[in-house]
Parts: sequence; structure tokens; C-alpha cells
Amino acid sequence: MAVEKLDIEQSYYTEKDFETTMLTPSYRIDLRNVGNEHLDQFMNANLVSNWSTLTWKEVGKPYEVKTVAKSKKDYEKEHGEMSVKTSWEYFNRSFHEWFVKDLPEEMSNSKRELIRYLSRFQFGDVKKALGETVRLSLWNYAHRIEDGVWDPRGKRALFQGLDLKKPRILFLGAAEGYEAMQLSAMYPGGEVVMVDYDEFCKTNRFGHFPNQYPFLGTNPSSGHPKVWHKNEMNIHYMVEDIRNLPFGKEFDIVLSVGLLEHFPDDYKAQVMDWHRKFLKPGGYVIMTTPRLQLKSRLFYTIMADVMNHTYRELMDIRQMGLYVYEGGFDILRHGYIKVHNGIVAQPR
Ligand SMILES: C[S@@+](CC[C@H](N)C(=O)[O-])C[C@H]1O[C@@H](n2cnc3c(N)ncnc32)[C@H](O)[C@@H]1O
Repeated sequence: MAVEKLDIEQSYYTEKDFETTMLTPSYRIDLRNVGNEHLDQFMNANLVSNWSTLTWKEVGKPYEVKTVAKSKKDYEKEHGEMSVKTSWEYFNRSFHEWFVKDLPEEMSNSKRELIRYLSRFQFGDVKKALGETVRLSLWNYAHRIEDGVWDPRGKRALFQGLDLKKPRILFLGAAEGYEAMQLSAMYPGGEVVMVDYDEFCKTNRFGHFPNQYPFLGTNPSSGHPKVWHKNEMNIHYMVEDIRNLPFGKEFDIVLSVGLLEHFPDDYKAQVMDWHRKFLKPGGYVIMTTPRLQLKSRLFYTIMADVMNHTYRELMDIRQMGLYVYEGGFDILRHGYIKVHNGIVAQPR
């Protein structure tokens, strides 16, 4: 039976915390379902039994998010069109700030401000404070309470049961590197190579990712469940453009999380090629993309100033699968996790 503890400050979470979930001021830690028996957060949707007969006419095209962050609009007024790389640099700095917030404290501060402005009839400031209060509450719910962004149980369900020993894992567009660390905990003893061309991801998003965060995985010598932390893993972080990587077909897993949907259709085949190019024979491609659902559309509207610096689509699992299938992959597993679609595939 899972035990719910609230707002517990603790430096490191370990095996003694098995079967518990706790809220820190910035995120949830979740060590439930240690034996992996009830990973019900990932539904193996099995919506499609034969990808070769599915057509774009049947599934339609993804939904494009059109709202744009204010900082990008301001930049473009002054400098003209923002390059894709600069857009990512803006996105990463802005998104990172939200992962390190003390949410209970910031929420109560912003509510206090709101009341102060209201009592003084400062309506311009009321509007701003209201926007911030709504964003904080939404982020608190989506990331901290629901754990929809990291979603460790959904990710474990997507990753479990693969035929891998000490894999070399390549993470394309790694940002803070969360999913490769989860994979490394589940399939320990290998190596992770994270790649992102925005240096801030190496220094801050990954660099400041909390060491005390527990990844539920396996002890390779006993086969028993074990808690892993970032600093126990064999990780190399490369600041490089995916298009310039020096590797051959040498990885057991090539992973991307939230990458494919940032490329319009003309570039999708190229993105799928990046996943194939570095994969050993018999290796796995693992990809996730944000789901097309009403609450995601709402999220990207309310969080536009935080998130919307780059081209972005929301798609359903059939649309995502069709891109992967048309990119030359057989789909071994497909389904939904909390806010993303997930696919495990191998080159055909
Ligand atoms: C949307 S993020 C991935 C989602 C991630 N889980 C997050 O929390 O932000 C995509 C990442 O890919 C990186 N990226 C995009 N194009 C790239 C390229 N050509 N080479 C290297 N990194 C790239 C961006 O800098 C960004 O950090």
C-alpha cells in the first residue's frame, strides 16, 4: 500500500523509501510499484495492429500550437526572425526556471500580491499577478502534484522488459536528461551519452538536476530493485549539434523526448534518420511526443510565455506512429503515458 507523505524535506531518497511518494517544494518523488507489477500509467494502447494499412487521410495531421512567447515576439521586433537554435536557448532558460521554483512559497507570495493590488485598485498589476498565480497553480498541478512532465511510472512502463545488458544509450536533444537517467537505472552498467547543442542544458538543466532525486531501477548484481542517483551513473554530456555527431552505429538505445514534434513535415524523415544512424543492429529507438488532448492545448496556451519559442505540434499516437513507420521503423510498442505518446521501435 502506498504511503503519501507531504512536503518532506530530505536530502537523499533511498530503498528505505520504497512504496512511498512525497512532495518536495519543486517536484514529486515517486517510489511506488517497486516490483513493476502495476505500471498502469502506461496503457499499451494497441490502437493499431497493422501500421502499413493506416493512412494520413484516416488520422489527419497534428495540431500546430500557434501562440508565441512574448520574449520571442519582443526579440523579433528588434532583430528579425529568431533562429531555431536561439529559440531553443530562450526556451531552455525559461523552462528551467520553473523546475527550480519553491512552488508553495511562490504561490502564496503571488496570492498575497494579488490581494494587495486588488485592495489598492491597481488593475494593471492585478492582471499581471493573476496571470502569474494561474501559471504557478497550473505548473504546481501538472508537474509537482500530477508528475506529468517527468512521469516516472509511465516512463518505466514504456521502458520495461527490453532485451538489454549494460546498454550504451544516446539521448538526442537531451535537455536535463531525465529519461536517459531513468533508462540507465533500469538497465545499469552501460553508458549514457546526452547530446544538446544548447550549453545551458549541460551546465544548468542537467548540471543542476537534483542529485538526491531517486530513479527506481535494478541492482545488477542481485537483480533486486535499487534506487539510483544522477551522480552514480556513467553519463557524458556533449554540447553538439545532432547533425555533427561523430558516432557510427554503436548505441543500443537511441532516445528522444519531445523532439519530433518540433519539425514540420518536410523534416520529419530526417529526424527519423538521426535515430537510425547511430543504432546498433538489434537496438531500440525510444521516442515520446506530447499528446494531443484538450488539457495540453490549454497548458500551452496558459504557459505560452514560458514554453512557446519554437515550432510545436501536438499529435496523437496514431499520427506519431505513422511518422515513425514511414520513417522506416517497425513499432514494437505504442501507447500513452500521462502527457506524452510513447513508442519503442526498430529499423525495418
Ligand atoms: C523540447 S526539448 C526536449 C524536451 C525536454 N524533455 C525538456 O524538458 O525540455 C528539445 C531539446 O533539443 C535540443 N535540440 C534541438 N535541436 C537540436 C540539434 N539540432 N542538435 C542538438 N540539440 C538540439 C534543444 O536545445 C532542446 O534542449
